[in-house]
Amino acid sequence: KAGWPGVVKAYASRIPVPDGAEVITLGEGNTPLVSAPYLSELTGCEVHLKVEGANPTGSFKDRGMTLAITHAKASGLQAVICASTGNTSASAAAYAARAGLTCAVLVPQGKIAMGKLAQAVRHGARILQVSGNFDDCLELARKAAADYPVTLVNSVNPVRLVGQKSAAWEVCDMLGRAPDIHCLPVGNAGNITAYWAGYAEYAADGVVETTPRMFGFQAAGAAPLVHGEPVDEPETIATAIRVGSPASWSGAEKAKNASGGLFDAATDEQIMDAYRLLASREGVFVEPASATSVAGLLIASADGRVPKGSVVVCTLTGHGLKDPGTALEGNIEVEPLPVDADAVAAALELT
Ligand code: F0G
Repeated sequence: KAGWPGVVKAYASRIPVPDGAEVITLGEGNTPLVSAPYLSELTGCEVHLKVEGANPTGSFKDRGMTLAITHAKASGLQAVICASTGNTSASAAAYAARAGLTCAVLVPQGKIAMGKLAQAVRHGARILQVSGNFDDCLELARKAAADYPVTLVNSVNPVRLVGQKSAAWEVCDMLGRAPDIHCLPVGNAGNITAYWAGYAEYAADGVVETTPRMFGFQAAGAAPLVHGEPVDEPETIATAIRVGSPASWSGAEKAKNASGGLFDAATDEQIMDAYRLLASREGVFVEPASATSVAGLLIASADGRVPKGSVVVCTLTGHGLKDPGTALEGNIEVEPLPVDADAVAAALELT
């Protein structure tokens, strides 16, 4: 028997599909929940990392895309469209390729990481770079889907969030309980909405006894939920969450309020510190946006908003390989060594 069947079949009783639909899957989900000793030490908590970069296209988007593309294929329409800061487009392109559907993606020009663009190119998506930001792209994609026979596979398509609930269920299944606090980076706010729905559903069904407090963190230059109003010109090094007007605003508010959670912002510097810390101390390479959950945890912990001893899960939403440009920035080029053992020893200061 083949292994993990992907989230739609693994949680078949909780994720309905249209009658007779062929489930389009690349084996997404079942990602590692990795303990984080260094962060646990720093915060006095029990910190775990939900490593979503381990999904087939390298981000959590695959959990929702398997279901969105399954529905799109079953509907008989031949094409899907999405707006994206990069990861949604990579995921849509891959699942559409698998399903034999045409995929169009609208991305903000010059503001998406190279790895994500490479994925969309190789999976054969029609890539339209727009001279605007993500919010502009989403508006255009919504219009196209309203006026033409293409399915919108952004998280405003409700089935996406049904698939993404699976991450919360996996956390509970792996921990044997719900965490006390769950930290997430927030951009368009679909994921925090989905996690909360997933936790609430498990608690309502008695699978777990409690629900976590949802802590949503945004980049300081793109923090509409923190400020309580849209940001016209969002700016941050964490391009994946460069969103000024989140589509799931009310879902995020509900997650925060119903769970006794909070929103806060992390500066680009704090995000990059967490990015480097995750790679160098925990051995986990993420893209900058993903480090926002950890940057936020450290901020909230430092000012006493995270009780010692809490069980904390931070979702790391996307893989570090998505954005090699940022990873290598500032690394000085060095002269190559001769093929000589003494030169190697000298370079490593072993002598
Ligand atoms: N982290 C990463 C790596 C993302 O790509 C995104 C969203 C988020 C966090 C935030 O999740 O939008 O559900 O609040 N990326 C979208 C995209 C906008 O187009 O790929 P959210």
